[in-house]
Amino acid sequence: MSPTAPQIASIPAALATPSTDEIETARAILVREKLLGENTHVSYFGLAEQDKRELLAGNVAQRRFRAMLVDMASGASHDVVVSPGEDRIVSAKKLDPAVDGQVPVVLLEFSLVEEVVHKDERWLAAMHKRGLTDLSTLRVNPLTAGVLAEAETGRRIQRCFTFVQKTPNDLGWAHPVDGVTVMVDVVTREVLDVIDCVDLPVPQEDGNFHDPAWVNEPIRPGIKPIEITQPQGPSFTIDDNGVLSWLGWQLQVGFDQREGLVLHNISINDAGEQRPIIYRASIAEMMVPYGDPAPQRWFQNFFDGGEYLLGGFANSLELGCDCVGDITYLDAVMAGNDGHARTVPQAICIHEEDAGILWKHFDNWNGSSASRRNRRLVVSFFVTVGNYDYGFYWYFYLDGKIEMEVKATGVVFTSGYPGDDYPFASELAPGLGAPYHQHMFNARLDMMVDGQVNAVDELEARLVPRGPANPTGTGFTQIVTRLKSEQDAQRSADNTRNRVWLVSNPGVQNRLGRDVGYVLFPEGKPTLIADAESDIHKRATFATRHLWVTPYSPEENYPAGDFVNMHSGGAGLPAWTTANRSVDGEDIVLWHTFGLTHFPRPEDWPIMPVDSTGFVLKPHGFFGRNPTLDIPETMSDHCAPGHEHHEHHTAS
Ligand code: NI
Repeated sequence: MSPTAPQIASIPAALATPSTDEIETARAILVREKLLGENTHVSYFGLAEQDKRELLAGNVAQRRFRAMLVDMASGASHDVVVSPGEDRIVSAKKLDPAVDGQVPVVLLEFSLVEEVVHKDERWLAAMHKRGLTDLSTLRVNPLTAGVLAEAETGRRIQRCFTFVQKTPNDLGWAHPVDGVTVMVDVVTREVLDVIDCVDLPVPQEDGNFHDPAWVNEPIRPGIKPIEITQPQGPSFTIDDNGVLSWLGWQLQVGFDQREGLVLHNISINDAGEQRPIIYRASIAEMMVPYGDPAPQRWFQNFFDGGEYLLGGFANSLELGCDCVGDITYLDAVMAGNDGHARTVPQAICIHEEDAGILWKHFDNWNGSSASRRNRRLVVSFFVTVGNYDYGFYWYFYLDGKIEMEVKATGVVFTSGYPGDDYPFASELAPGLGAPYHQHMFNARLDMMVDGQVNAVDELEARLVPRGPANPTGTGFTQIVTRLKSEQDAQRSADNTRNRVWLVSNPGVQNRLGRDVGYVLFPEGKPTLIADAESDIHKRATFATRHLWVTPYSPEENYPAGDFVNMHSGGAGLPAWTTANRSVDGEDIVLWHTFGLTHFPRPEDWPIMPVDSTGFVLKPHGFFGRNPTLDIPETMSDHCAPGHEHHEHHTAS
């Protein structure tokens, strides 16, 4: 079998998260070369990974970093590669925002819009008309703009809604001022236009779930503590480069301002050998399209990856609340908008969990009874992007299964509710609406199943037609279709056929002589629901298919393109795959779209219980048999026969 990446000792250091020193040195070079001045904001800063092919060949070069810069006085933006080790700028490209799009949103844009909007006569008139005169209660919410009007081309714009926050402790999302949208040029700091198209009453009922006095319910009785203890500590170790080892698994944990968690060189032990599965795994984009075409909100499509850089909004987690058990936290180090290093303490949570029964059988013939418990390694982080909160959880199981789960919670985006015949929103509280929407995620999975040369087959169940081969009509089989080129490999899930995608290595066979592989199980929920000619279909084409496969290219990292903010569309996967390159027996990358289609319920208000979405990867002939026969019988003192139920005797 092929040599595995973790065995090349210098690779983890080459792929590690940027250090504080590297960020500060890079900043000094940007200042010296006059790319970073008084009004420049560092929108994005992250590791520009070395070409995987060079790295895996052992040719480790100086680390380079990519910086996306915007001058908030002039609007000029740059895409820069800097090498602190060589003390130089490698490249600096000035963007043409009308063609290239804008670099991602910077924090200044959140703070400045309210000041600008509060002074605008047209907006003030719209508020006065609604009886809203106390500026201190009017929160202006900036939203990424998309590309809608010719007049806006090349400008850097936020579209803004208004919410009433009655007091500093009030939840403003409960009181949307619907019907008014304000277009703000955040560079010239002027209001370009105010749309005032409907006048819906501002919903008055509060939603202050964070305030026990408002909730005003007795604490639910009878809840007894659950304590998770690991008296001998957790079963994993982690080194200074973030290389995590757990019961045969090995992977490198990194963090990026755009993608959040980035996992490299995921491999699993098999008879003493670390066998690679995935070279790099991340959530490379996520986008939340809203389904209400009303004139004041139809542009609502938030790319929380490419526009907002979700990793930058990582929460600092606290023991006992967000993660339970014997936790190891890692800090996330990123650059702030000023270019200096900033640390989010305890951003990444690593722990292990019991995962129920792994396998079990009582045998009637030989009388044996055997069972084993499963457990999983959990690597997770949580972000808050505006009203919503998302948890990203990667799970690794004893049997070789890998699972990705996104947990969506927080506060749903609200609107005024126009009435019972309204087809594009639910009513959550009296007069309070929540527009229908989707949460679309795209996982970039740079596969490396036992080596770099992989291929993808689509597997699905099919009834064999009644005939000589199937005289009873009960025969069904599995159809295997090789996805040979990029266009063959643009696929939608079909759970009615049990459709899954097998990534195999044609050069490595298992003990039965078949190619080793891993299967991607999609959830199979809807992809993007939007007309093919719509603005969002062009900008988020990645979300129109569950599966895309491309040959590895170091330039191809983000499925909707590098500069999503105010980009007119067509970038990323739809552009690359027009070449229709071969993906059959190549070094391939899977791009998997998954997500939620959310028709909000009253129970989602005022704070939404977690909803979840994700996908699973399972070994499929990767091992020669069940790889968990070596798991010991008892792994817990708590595997006891049970307690006596005294309380039953006292019940009347
Ligand atoms: Ni939702």
